[in-house]
Amino acid sequence: MWRVGKEFNVNVAVRKAWDAIEALQQPTLGQLFTADPDRLGKLSARLDWPGSEDMGGAIFDWSKTHLDDDVLAAFEALADASDFAGRRAALLSGAAINVTEGRAAEHTAQRGIGAEASVEEAAEFHHRMHLLVDAIHRGALGEIRHLIHIGIGGSALGPKLAIDALARDGALVEVHVVSNIDGLALEEAFAAADPATTMVAVASKTFTTIETMTNAASALDWLKENGVVDPYGRVVALTAAPDKAVEWGVDETRVLPFSESVGGRYSLWSSIGFPIALGVGWEAFDAMLAGAHAVDVHFRDTDGRANLPLRAAFADQLYTRVRGCQTRAVFAYDERLKLFPDYLQQLEMESNGKRVTFDGEPVEGATAPITWGGVGTDGQHAVFQLLHQGTVEVPVDFIASVAPGDALDPAHHAILLTNCFAQGAALMAGGNMSADGKDPARAFPGDRPSATILCDDIDAATLGALIAFHEHRTFANAVLLGINPFDQFGVELGKKMAKDIEAGGGDFDPSTRALLEAAGLSA
Ligand code: F6P
Repeated sequence: MWRVGKEFNVNVAVRKAWDAIEALQQPTLGQLFTADPDRLGKLSARLDWPGSEDMGGAIFDWSKTHLDDDVLAAFEALADASDFAGRRAALLSGAAINVTEGRAAEHTAQRGIGAEASVEEAAEFHHRMHLLVDAIHRGALGEIRHLIHIGIGGSALGPKLAIDALARDGALVEVHVVSNIDGLALEEAFAAADPATTMVAVASKTFTTIETMTNAASALDWLKENGVVDPYGRVVALTAAPDKAVEWGVDETRVLPFSESVGGRYSLWSSIGFPIALGVGWEAFDAMLAGAHAVDVHFRDTDGRANLPLRAAFADQLYTRVRGCQTRAVFAYDERLKLFPDYLQQLEMESNGKRVTFDGEPVEGATAPITWGGVGTDGQHAVFQLLHQGTVEVPVDFIASVAPGDALDPAHHAILLTNCFAQGAALMAGGNMSADGKDPARAFPGDRPSATILCDDIDAATLGALIAFHEHRTFANAVLLGINPFDQFGVELGKKMAKDIEAGGGDFDPSTRALLEAAGLSA
């Protein structure tokens, strides 16, 4: 049993709603399909967005989860008690919903939904970025064939995912994303790029992150050592702290700002998306915004269980809070989305990996599960053993595309998709693989949940839509949990301790002191 907040401070309606959810019967997936012939119609829905040619979209099939009419109704009551509609309106109107930092979370304004002034400002910043991208493509800054994009966390994961997904047929400018402070990462980019035709993007919301600033300085050294007379002339800054970028030496004309109210892990829609526009073209970046916008409109205008990100959050809460699942897995059955689980890890775990409510009261019980995953079919031959026969329940999301990304024999894609669908079916059905059906080692318990997102194709609009779907799902989870998904104080203590060590101070434990000494460093 769990409780949100201190016993007497908890919103009574929220507590009652959770009690009602916990008291519900939990039939098996098989029983649920038998009990309701219209189950698929109720729990699988299609969402459309403007696609590369015409309209595109995806099927969001949550029918292989333990949601049913009763569970959905109980979660709708929880959403009402948690003022989901009010909080969603606050988010989408630019209210200061990030209470611990006293500011709004305005990523949807980048996509045209938000406070009027913020939407206008985002459009202006996009225009500025578009002009610079066009100028570089036209050769106004000389021949540019490579971009080393330096950023970390939200300033790298989105661009990295988008470039990997969308630039497979070749890029206008080759983008090398470098995040880690380990010099090997930067050296790899140096080896792949030609200094004479390379630009450097320094992407940092704060323009203070040590990894990014150290890598940026080394990239400038590399340009200089390789004959570039004015290395700063090759730098573009993507930041919400434009003054710091100018102070650091970037020419104002190549500083692309974005608003402080756009969170780091929600920032690929802002100038942090510059490498996407430069590498794959402005149209692709714009299509990502359009795909995300379509999902924003759905999220804004749809109530209750028909709201797909909210419905997904209902299932997430059912598994994490009620059934005790500590992890959730995401497997992309498409190489173009192989970095999607990495992207989701920051989005979900940095947003909802919290332990207090927005009132500062302790949350007793689980908040975000651990998000993990990979690509199919690789995962089947490595980790799916545990999903099928391990002792823990792991809800799995499958993401696939009807259209293949490859031009090989269609057999490849057919095998990919049949395997994807077979995994969901097998997890649910279970069975026994032995001849007599009795060998316990060959028994599959079944009744293991999964959801499937089947896209028409993986184009820019779809990628934008998929990311926006998960942003809203994450927000909906936070509302149901009563937590603020927009701060990330949990990253601060380790950063401070590293600084203390560097400064030669800090009071460290014997283990840490011994490790520092063994590495030739001292505290
Ligand atoms: O340390 C965590 C974090 O603040 C993330 O939230 C953020 O995406 C990342 O670091 C990078 O921050 P910045 O863009 O300011 O360099």
